[in-house]
Amino acid sequence: MKVFIIGISGATGSRVARLLADEGNTVSGLYRHPEQLAGIQALGASGTLGDVATTSEEELASAITGADVLVFSAGAGEQDDDSMIDAVDRDGVLKTIAALRIAGISRLLLVSVFPEAWRERHMPKSFEHYMAAKKQADVYLVHSELDWVILRPSALTDDPGTGRVSLSEAEIHIDISRDDVAATIATLLHRPEVRRRILEVTAGGTPIASAVATLSN
Ligand SMILES: NC(=O)c1ccc[n+]([C@@H]2O[C@H](COP(=O)([O-])OP(=O)(O)OC[C@H]3O[C@@H](n4cnc5c(N)ncnc54)[C@H](OP(=O)(O)O)[C@@H]3O)[C@@H](O)[C@H]2O)c1
Repeated sequence: MKVFIIGISGATGSRVARLLADEGNTVSGLYRHPEQLAGIQALGASGTLGDVATTSEEELASAITGADVLVFSAGAGEQDDDSMIDAVDRDGVLKTIAALRIAGISRLLLVSVFPEAWRERHMPKSFEHYMAAKKQADVYLVHSELDWVILRPSALTDDPGTGRVSLSEAEIHIDISRDDVAATIATLLHRPEVRRRILEVTAGGTPIASAVATLSN
């Protein structure tokens, strides 16, 4: 399987890349800073230099041509810059969808967010903007003709993975390690029959392979 990851240098994207490369898949991705290439290669992957906020649909299509499936795990992160959130978390996804069409690729796994995440906390205004941008991207993708999966992880941690999750259309928002999110993504990519589904994933007790296999039934 040939996989292209937008966000390959990130904490989740790099974990996905390593898992897939270790399995023998061909992995590449988009990275923004030349000095990141050595780290990407150390994962067993390759990369194309580019910024999803400024690249054109055609340039992105050229970078992803030949891939079987895309993973979008990029995010503008915790910054008080609504325009950057729009450019990456919303418009970056729209641009990726356009590039997939140009490249003739149908599969996209989008890493999104629980809509109720941290709504009980007093988060900065930019957090609401981030949540709205993520939802707009989800809506746009759901209404596309692509073979999408939207995976909404709960709050991400860098704790070691457990190999177990709770995964379904609706979960309670708690937290989950990036290791377990990455393993869930890698497992989902091997199940193309799981398509056009919004899934929530959080820490839980079901082995990841079983949790994903259940979705195919
Ligand atoms: N943090 C949470 O608790 C949480 C919860 C639910 C969902 N999520 C979502 O889960 C995903 C992964 O989160 P994470 O914390 O693991 O990610 P992360 O470590 O913050 O990585 C973000 C990735 O996006 C890339 N990126 C940012 N702006 C970009 C641009 N303009 N063009 C291309 N790439 C760009 C970064 O590249 P650089 O290395 O160049 O910065 C990096 O590879 C994100 O979509 C996030 O919104 C996060």
